[in-house]
Amino acid sequence: MTGGAKGIGRASCLAFAREGAAVVCADVDAAAGEQVAQEAAELAGVSLFRKADVADAEACRALVAEAVSAFGGVDVLFNNVGIQPTDSYLMAHECPEEMWDRILDVNLKSHFLMSKYCIPEMRKRKGGVILNTASVQGLQSAHQVPAYAASKGGVLSLTRQLALDYAPDGIRVLAICPGAIDTPMLEASIRTSTEKEEVVRARLDAAHPIGRIGRPEEIAEVVLFLASDRASFMTGEYVCVDGGLMAKGAWA
Ligand SMILES: NC(=O)c1ccc[n+]([C@@H]2O[C@H](COP(=O)([O-])OP(=O)(O)OC[C@H]3O[C@@H](n4cnc5c(N)ncnc54)[C@H](O)[C@@H]3O)[C@@H](O)[C@H]2O)c1
Repeated sequence: MTGGAKGIGRASCLAFAREGAAVVCADVDAAAGEQVAQEAAELAGVSLFRKADVADAEACRALVAEAVSAFGGVDVLFNNVGIQPTDSYLMAHECPEEMWDRILDVNLKSHFLMSKYCIPEMRKRKGGVILNTASVQGLQSAHQVPAYAASKGGVLSLTRQLALDYAPDGIRVLAICPGAIDTPMLEASIRTSTEKEEVVRARLDAAHPIGRIGRPEEIAEVVLFLASDRASFMTGEYVCVDGGLMAKGAWA
């Protein structure tokens, strides 16, 4: 689980642990990550945290090697990590190259790297599941998110590619497209607004046909399902978990 210390990753680590899975929580935030791993271990018996910047190839290689040595293999890879820095809301012509590179490295390259190192392990076990967190912003764009939108579109494309190439190995690959979910990332983005928090939150709630934004646990439930054999005929697809946001046309 990448980006497992907070938000959707945290809820997903705990959801998997509740099902009895040994979870490897990888994150740059060691304090929050250690706490999640401890809670997961209380639920599942075992689990561990590893501090890792998953935009770095060597960190990903070492992470997978440690997971295999601790638990004997990898059944499910959840590429959840993603960043949307609060100073990244820019027109493309204003976006510094380093900002573009960092967002693409964390949001897209990390998914490639973690898959690259997990797939040989999954092949040894004759199967596995790779889940990638994309976004509704990989399908339709908001204003001034060039790198984020491009990274999420890339995640959807990578999902299809891996699904196609590794289906013969019994490896299913799926993406999740969350709508607005109440996590530290969303809180940080709300804080950048010049409007009051309650005004921004009310607008976000109203944008979703269900009338509210989502909770991290609501994403984790879908992730669990997609990782399970109950989703055995699903691969190469994305699932929107967005309170109906993507059902809405511009005229609605
Ligand atoms: N919250 C939303 O509204 C929303 C909507 C659509 C998609 N998403 C996507 O869901 C995923 C999770 O988002 P969230 O809202 O839970 O985010 P979050 O910022 O609340 O949590 C992300 C976690 O990733 C960790 N992280 C950041 N960079 C890292 C790196 N290089 N290596 C390892 N860990 C790193 C952070 O420390 C944090 O614990 C992301 O891919 C995000 O783009 C979120």
